[in-house]
Amino acid sequence: MFKTKKLIAIDIGSSSIKVVEIVGHPNNTSMKNFALDLLPEGSIVNGIIVDGAAVTQVLKRIIAQLGAKGRRASISVSGSGVMLKKISVSNVANATINDQVQSQAAESFQLDLAEMYFDYVEMGREHEQAESVDVLLVGARREVIEQYISIVKGAGLEIGAMEASAISVANMFEANYGTMNDLVALVSIGASHLQVGFVERGRFLFSQEMPVGGDQYTNLIMQSMNAKRDAAEQMKILASTNPAAITPELQRIIDETNTLIANDIRQCIAFFHSSPEGNEAGPLKYCFLTGGASRTLHLDSVIASTIRVPVHFANPFQRIQITAKNFQTEQIAEIGAMVSCAVGLGMRLLDDKVAV
Ligand SMILES: Nc1ncnc2c1ncn2[C@@H]1O[C@H](COP(=O)(O)OP(=O)(O)OP(=O)(O)O)[C@@H](O)[C@H]1O
Ligand SMILES: [Mg+2]
Repeated sequence: MFKTKKLIAIDIGSSSIKVVEIVGHPNNTSMKNFALDLLPEGSIVNGIIVDGAAVTQVLKRIIAQLGAKGRRASISVSGSGVMLKKISVSNVANATINDQVQSQAAESFQLDLAEMYFDYVEMGREHEQAESVDVLLVGARREVIEQYISIVKGAGLEIGAMEASAISVANMFEANYGTMNDLVALVSIGASHLQVGFVERGRFLFSQEMPVGGDQYTNLIMQSMNAKRDAAEQMKILASTNPAAITPELQRIIDETNTLIANDIRQCIAFFHSSPEGNEAGPLKYCFLTGGASRTLHLDSVIASTIRVPVHFANPFQRIQITAKNFQTEQIAEIGAMVSCAVGLGMRLLDDKVAV
């Protein structure tokens, strides 16, 4: 007998862990459970887990709070240890796609596959008899993945799927906005990194990451205004929620960092357009923002004027209902940006059936 086993989605970010449970069907979906807890500063640096015990402790606390011990969990992974590559393989009988992918993957990643975890997804074909099939390879360094596995197991969970966070964000986007024919940039700005993914006609084309994010503002405020980390973080967040209270020095730091991040996004877009995938894609029509730092005062308008494309905040609850008792709709603007990746990862679990 096949039955949907209850799965939870975990996004371990460098500033906090987000856990969600998405239930329902693709057309009638809701977030049934939600938790977000901050990590001690410095426990994850540039996507690398430095203090595994501290991260495990926070996850354990969340799991106890949700009563989710023993459940299967899917995790989203990102950072420099995770790579995405698109390849084309000849369209022969399905059974041989796997063989072709295996032989092309090592060459594509320029790494020994024994050092990597790797998976692939078929990106759709023009028609059944098309001569070639596009395949997205997802590879991650074994040591990076093993760290995540040990944290999830250490918190008393079983491992379900793993997904590159750029794919989770693309799934969140499609679940809420449908399939757009135009080229769309999905820009996630977290605490420590910026990720720009490109989707067109429901296909994920490319993604790139840069090591900048919300921490950049906080660090500059600490240095220039001689503030402690918590105070600097509060000043930054207060600026976006109550712009009238901002001082000229804080305004200067935020403006300068906004410009820097917007220029990085412009560079990612230029790089994409110079790649083979970008050459074939249409012009960029929209940019959607996710990630906590995307809420920084005026960052959306600075990005829009830098890349000259309309910029919107992606709402992960545009079509997904919220039934979690501890999440109020008024929190969407405040927390929605941070939880987008976990929501997208949770969508994937709807189809995940296990034999019982
Ligand atoms: N209203 C706000 N204004 C400005 N910055 C904000 C706001 N809310 C959250 N942030 C910032 O967003 C960041 C956290 O976002 P998020 O949870 O998406 O990052 P993360 O997943 O922990 O990090 P990463 O994905 O880079 O590892 C922090 O730097 C936080 O200060
Ligand atoms: Mg994140």
